[in-house]
Amino acid sequence: MTAKIIDGKVISDFFRAEYKRRVDRLASSGIRPGLAVVIVGDDPASQVYVRNKAKACESIGMYSEVHPLPSTTSQAALTAFVETLNARPEIHGILVQLPLPKGLDDRAVIEAIAAEKDVDGFHYANMGALVIDESPYPPCTPYGVMKMLEYEGITIEGKHAVIIGRSNIVGKPQAMLLLKAGATVTVCHSKTQDLPAFCRSADILVAAVGRPNFVEGHWIKPGAVVIDVGINRLPDGKLCGDVDYHSAAEVASAITPVPGGVGPMTITMLLGNTLHAAEATLPNAVGMETRLA
Ligand code: GUN
Repeated sequence: MTAKIIDGKVISDFFRAEYKRRVDRLASSGIRPGLAVVIVGDDPASQVYVRNKAKACESIGMYSEVHPLPSTTSQAALTAFVETLNARPEIHGILVQLPLPKGLDDRAVIEAIAAEKDVDGFHYANMGALVIDESPYPPCTPYGVMKMLEYEGITIEGKHAVIIGRSNIVGKPQAMLLLKAGATVTVCHSKTQDLPAFCRSADILVAAVGRPNFVEGHWIKPGAVVIDVGINRLPDGKLCGDVDYHSAAEVASAITPVPGGVGPMTITMLLGNTLHAAEATLPNAVGMETRLA
């Protein structure tokens, strides 16, 4: 079997076109969705991600601003800065790029973001909503994965979904979203014994481990759907995923490439969450209502 390539760029463009129409509609109410991105320190990969987020906002007519802060920024100064963003009505979404430099507490900073501006969906209030019913801001990467599966018409209900990775950014929220969609979910991690056996039982396999080409083709059940969340840089500068693409594509029915798979969807869902935050400020909006789109 040769797998169908799930093209994240095509799916991303589909959603961005819809978001652009909604941005244009908001403009008639005098609202331009605004995203503030805070980056602390000088990690080059994070700087690229942040620039891409800002560029994507502008591409659909949203406002964005990037705030680079020195790695010497104190916890108190960072919290105070986030609070100034909370108070600005033209900023609908706030994202603090993670990981933060050593010595800064990620969790404390996330909790300083107003829950209704937490477009990453990482605040306790939004994570809690995700577990109990539905978050207004599903975390962007796992939400992007769900949108890809939906776009491709892949049935989730009744399927066994195996996630490799238990991070707060991907693994845990991915488990909640797949569970809500009716999958039986297994979350594997670094302490899992016989990981290949778990992978072989997956109808949908989501790899989010951060290890280049880690998942091998012979770990994959014939006909499974393989979603590769990893973005790893090899010594020769090339990007690769967590899945050994060539061997996996021989066995899977559908697979996401790296680059051009989940990556573009993450940014697109951030645009969607920021747009949703702006729409929630309209007088007739319910506010923190659940997501329709
Ligand atoms: N670092 C890696 N992924 C993410 C993300 O989705 N949001 C933030 N804020 N930081 C990240």
